[in-house]
Amino acid sequence: RQSLVDIPVVLHVVHSTPEQNVSDAQIQSQIEVLNQDFRAGNPDVNKVPAAWQDLVADVRLQFHLARTDPLGRPTSGITRTQSSTPDWGTDDLVKFSLSGGRDAWPADIYLNVWVCRLRRGLLGYAQFPGGAASTDGVVVTDTAVGTTGTAKAPFDGGRTAVHEIGHWLNLRHIWGDDDEGCSGSDFVSDTPNQAGPNLGSPDFPQVTCGNGPNGDMFMNYMDYTDDAAMFMFTKGQAARMDATLDQARQTLTR
Ligand code: ARG
Ligand code: ZN
Ligand code: CA
Repeated sequence: RQSLVDIPVVLHVVHSTPEQNVSDAQIQSQIEVLNQDFRAGNPDVNKVPAAWQDLVADVRLQFHLARTDPLGRPTSGITRTQSSTPDWGTDDLVKFSLSGGRDAWPADIYLNVWVCRLRRGLLGYAQFPGGAASTDGVVVTDTAVGTTGTAKAPFDGGRTAVHEIGHWLNLRHIWGDDDEGCSGSDFVSDTPNQAGPNLGSPDFPQVTCGNGPNGDMFMNYMDYTDDAAMFMFTKGQAARMDATLDQARQTLTR
């Protein structure tokens, strides 16, 4: 794919406290991060180790808050729902009005992003392609949205949404989801095989699974490092996301 794909986003804020009701400005800061990171236009992309600079991908994806709602009326692309639920799990209850959340907009047209307080410090979760439309999209905890307002270090770089949208476009965790083993795969050929997730802000290199001298690509958005320590997708990951946009998520490119 040569052309840019511009994805309409609807962001559903489901809040039980004023703090959880993140501001329009905070949401806008999130959209800006997406528009940098999916185009390799992020200011920290130059921190990618020299050995991997040629692998850095411009994914050629743009995001904008939806301008028309499912009935064709003008919208800000943000819905706000007051809820009595103080926090949420990964059971998708936040995605239904009947359970105190907010219903999805048609997933063949919009990327649905729910913002709510997630339990147990969970930053976000995503639905892979091929699932039910009613639960399709990503969920991000309110304190990990964007770069301003209530965004809280070390997850105040807007990268939780980047990571979750990676999953939504069929990317796996870079370590292959077998935790500390060396047999799991992310099904991407240009990411090094790596044992398990990296946390925090590691020093380069971190060698595992015989992947020296450069080691784990812990600065990849699909690892578990801090927001300030992750700044790239690879070309192989971009190809996998492209394939998703050509197939399972094709309707979003029209
Ligand atoms: N699903 C992951 C979690 O909640 C998201 C990790 C995002 N990483 C980040 N630096 N924002 O643990
Ligand atoms: Zn993940
Ligand atoms: Ca592994």
